[in-house]
Amino acid sequence: MKLHGKVALLTGACGGIGQAIARNLVAQGARVLATDLSQHGLAALQRELGDELATMVLDVTDYDAVASAMDRAVETFGQLDIVLNNAGIGAGKPLLEHDPAVDFDPVTAVNQHGVYYGILAAGRKFTELDRPGVIINTSSVYGTMASELSFSYNVSKAAVDMMTKCAALDFAPQNIRVCAVAPGRVNTPILEHYKALGLLEHITREQMRERVIEPEDIAQVVAFLASDEASCINGTTVEAGDGFCGFKYPLTRRFAGE
Ligand SMILES: NC(=O)c1ccc[n+]([C@@H]2O[C@H](COP(=O)([O-])OP(=O)(O)OC[C@H]3O[C@@H](n4cnc5c(N)ncnc54)[C@H](O)[C@@H]3O)[C@@H](O)[C@H]2O)c1
Repeated sequence: MKLHGKVALLTGACGGIGQAIARNLVAQGARVLATDLSQHGLAALQRELGDELATMVLDVTDYDAVASAMDRAVETFGQLDIVLNNAGIGAGKPLLEHDPAVDFDPVTAVNQHGVYYGILAAGRKFTELDRPGVIINTSSVYGTMASELSFSYNVSKAAVDMMTKCAALDFAPQNIRVCAVAPGRVNTPILEHYKALGLLEHITREQMRERVIEPEDIAQVVAFLASDEASCINGTTVEAGDGFCGFKYPLTRRFAGE
C-alpha cells in the first residue's frame, strides 16, 4: 500500500475522477477527508468507504472554508500529508458569444482561484505542522492545447500548470512537493455530452490507442504522485492522456473510417 499511514484532503470528491481517487487513496492505506459541494454524494462515499473516510461540504471558491478544511483534516485524523486540489468545472461557448460573468468568471473561480486557495492553505498548514507535504492539482491536457468551445477551461488549466511550478519553487524550503496530473479524455459523465452530440466514436478514434481513459487509471497516477515513490517528481504536470498530446490524429485513420 503506497499511502499507508498518510492523511489526505480531496476536493471535488464526488465527481467521476474524484470518486475514483477517493476509493484508491483508501485502498492504498490513506485516511481521507473527502470534500465536495454535494452533501448527497459525500454521504454515498461515506457509506461505501467507512471509517477511513470523513466528509465535509466545501466550496473551493471560499478561501476561509478551504483553510478550515485543512484544520478539519488535522482535527479528524491527527495530521495532514497530502492535499488534492481536484474540483473543476467545464464551459463551452464560442469566445465571441461569451458573457464574462457566466462563461469566464465561474470557471476561473473554481478551476483557478479554487486551486490557488488549496495550494495556499495547504502550504500554510504543512508549514504550521512543520512536516513535509504533497500537493497534487488536477489540470487537463487542455492546459497546453487550444480546443474549440473551451476558452475559459483551457486558460484555467494553463494557470493550474503554472501555479504548480511556482508553488513548488516557493515551498521547496519547507520540503513541500507540488505536482499536477493532466488527464486526457476520461470516461466520466462529461462524455455524456459528447455521446448526445454523436461524437463519442470520433473522440475514441482520436485517441492514440482508440480508447478513452478510465477514472481508475487517473487515480493510480495520482496515488503514485502523492506517494514517496515519486519523491523526485516536483513542480511539473504529468500528462495522463494516453498519448493525446503527443501525436496528430493520422489522416489515414480519419479517411479509413469515412
Ligand atoms: N473527466 C475528464 O475527462 C477530465 C479530463 C481532464 C481533466 N479533468 C479534471 O478532473 C477534475 C475532476 O473532473 P471530473 O471528471 O471528476 O468532473 P465531475 O464534473 O464529474 O466532478 C467535479 C466535482 O467537482 C465538484 N465541484 C464543482 N464546483 C465545486 C466547488 N465550487 N467547490 C467544490 N467542489 C466543486 C462537483 O460537485 C463534482 O463533484 C476536474 O478538475 C476536471 O477539470 C477531467
